[in-house]
Amino acid sequence: MKQEILKLLKENTTGFISGQDISDKLGVSRTAIWKYINQIKEDGYEIESVSKKGYKIISSPDLLTYEEIEPYLNTTFIGRNILHFDSIDSTNSRAKQMSDSIEADGTVLIGEEQTNGRGRLGRSWVSPKYKGVWMSVFLRPDLNPMEAVKLTQIAAAAVVEAAKELKITTLVKWPNDIVVNHKKICGILTEMSAELTRINYVVVGIGINVNIDELDFPEDIKEIATSLKVETKCSVNRQELVGRILNNFERLYLKFIEENDIKISLDICRANSALIGNDIIVIKKEENVTARALDIDEEGRLLVQYKDGRQEFIISGEVSIRGKGSYI
Ligand code: BTN
Repeated sequence: MKQEILKLLKENTTGFISGQDISDKLGVSRTAIWKYINQIKEDGYEIESVSKKGYKIISSPDLLTYEEIEPYLNTTFIGRNILHFDSIDSTNSRAKQMSDSIEADGTVLIGEEQTNGRGRLGRSWVSPKYKGVWMSVFLRPDLNPMEAVKLTQIAAAAVVEAAKELKITTLVKWPNDIVVNHKKICGILTEMSAELTRINYVVVGIGINVNIDELDFPEDIKEIATSLKVETKCSVNRQELVGRILNNFERLYLKFIEENDIKISLDICRANSALIGNDIIVIKKEENVTARALDIDEEGRLLVQYKDGRQEFIISGEVSIRGKGSYI
């Protein structure tokens, strides 16, 4: 009911809507409406109430709720069910815990902060409150588990495209980082539950440093991490950013699932690659080897050439890649 009242208020931003009108439209008493309005105010909305006129919304909070993201969404299913958390340990962990009860494909979990945000290789992911986008997209794709790795490339392409729409140039550092000026602004953590030939579910976790100030980065990641705000010197609208990422994600995901077309996503990753054409360091268990990144193939593997001319396809997760002369 709270959501429905909020929707009516948002449709009437120019004028007042009377308690009676809301009551008639939604079939609840005016006292109940007054209680819901108070709850909406507690959520951070500024609402003017004038007797005999009714209610008018003055301002909305910077929250990543469905109501705030919806105006930017043009998807059919991704992000149509958003589970919003004021604080959460990790949206990926919660998505996995809730996997049995999440029915809607494309459900998105978003936390305003994560207290135990997780990165790849067991690392932690700093996720301060209201400063970033910490979200997980829950999917049940009819895919062979071997194909799931491509969902990371789809997510990376979606983030790059969304940033481009906001006039921000970002690059993909294969396989799962997005960088600006050689520093990381986004990481993607794709996790899955599968049988040998069948995926039960996939969780695509996307973490973006949006409005974090330079001084707010912990000392140990200052040299390697940055935010959209630091790089553009402007605050970025998180709600619009999420809407645009989900729109692009759905478009690219459907191309892949329905038409088996991953090329469009990989082309975006290639055209905006931080690695292709550059010298990189391939970090293997036993040694670090310098190589030139040549291409990303149709399987989403990175093709590299070593100094002795030998070429190798690198599968994501098998090794780590670092830009030569760069921290990441
Ligand atoms: C990495 O670069 O190592 C991946 C970072 C992924 C962070 C995101 S934030 C939302 C989701 N929940 C998590 O705990 N991690 C991912």
